[in-house]
Amino acid sequence: MTFRRLEDAALKGKRALVRVDFNVPMHDGAVSDDTRLRAALPTIELLRKAGAKTVLLAHFDRPKGKRVPEMSLKPVVAPLAKLLNAEVAFADDCVGETAAKCIEALPDGGVILLENTRYHVGEEANDPALAKAIAALGDVYVNDAFSAAHRAHVSTEGLAHLLPAYAGKSMETELNALDAALGHPERPVLGIVGGSKVSTKLDLLKNLVTKLDKLAIGGGMANTFLYAQGYDVGASYCEKDLAETAREIIGLASRSNCKLFLPIDIVVAEQMAQGAPARVRSLGEVDEHERILDAGPDTIHRLKRAMSNSKTLIWNGPLGVFEIPPFDRGTVEAAQHAAFLAREKKLIAVAGGGDTVSALNHAGVAKHFTFVSTAGGAFLEWMEGKPLPGVEALQA
Ligand code: 3PG
Repeated sequence: MTFRRLEDAALKGKRALVRVDFNVPMHDGAVSDDTRLRAALPTIELLRKAGAKTVLLAHFDRPKGKRVPEMSLKPVVAPLAKLLNAEVAFADDCVGETAAKCIEALPDGGVILLENTRYHVGEEANDPALAKAIAALGDVYVNDAFSAAHRAHVSTEGLAHLLPAYAGKSMETELNALDAALGHPERPVLGIVGGSKVSTKLDLLKNLVTKLDKLAIGGGMANTFLYAQGYDVGASYCEKDLAETAREIIGLASRSNCKLFLPIDIVVAEQMAQGAPARVRSLGEVDEHERILDAGPDTIHRLKRAMSNSKTLIWNGPLGVFEIPPFDRGTVEAAQHAAFLAREKKLIAVAGGGDTVSALNHAGVAKHFTFVSTAGGAFLEWMEGKPLPGVEALQA
């Protein structure tokens, strides 16, 4: 894919409408995790240096076209200003007279954040009239929000057709890392897909088995695959109605020469509670009241060996109930091994998706991975092989 590069643009005195993703975790009205604010800094700093006026567009939560005060972006201003070490102005609307006046008052190199784009019903509808009105506030458009690029909204897609459109630095970094993991990876490439539901990851599994050399399936969804192969899963979470689909995926993997790694042993307990007595069992040896809550040691050992024998790893979803120790053991051990290999430059390790990032943070290794995406839904859709409207619209 080719994009217009910000470095090649004449930006002095230009108003740059920059779509960022400031849909950040908040606690008691204050930003509790600033990862996404930090991700926007390289683009903002580049624009400031070039003497552009940076006009930030973002959504927060899902106000569905209404001005919901709790969903204001105002609490983002102070932490962003602190990170930038510069003043950040705020306009309480993303369109119209108020926004226009605030932008006009901005000096070259200045930064302003506009209020939640989703306060307008036209945003999610990708309404051409709203797009035209917002486009009038800028001279160029920059999309730096990969994590919102699966949405075809005014601020993520519509604007790209009305102004010269550029990929921001964070968008560029995401796309390069993802291309290295799945587009043009160094082979062999191993995938790990975990999490509880097969039903939410069907398209993803079907796409991955046709692209990867090896795929490990873990977490609750592995129970469905075990059940589909005739193993008793006791009281475990299991989507029994998807057994046939699981068998189809196993068949597709085999036809596509993708080696599938399903658990070969399991950790079970009667209670899904912190410190609950856990037992390692062979497949199928699950009592009626027991639940499978983690991958067993042999499964993890084999997975670590598969990592050591691969050049690239792409990881989405935990291997067990990592929030409740001791059922975090499999995920932590596997994550630490991937991080070790990545640090030794023996493995390109890329991960993404909400739970995955929490799991890697829990294991204390996110910073050692080659790349950890800030995206949730967009990362999944990209792994499913779906075109992302926000990325498509940027292509030069
Ligand atoms: C995210 O947090 O994944 C993005 O900001 C997209 O948010 P949405 O799912 O509300 O569109």
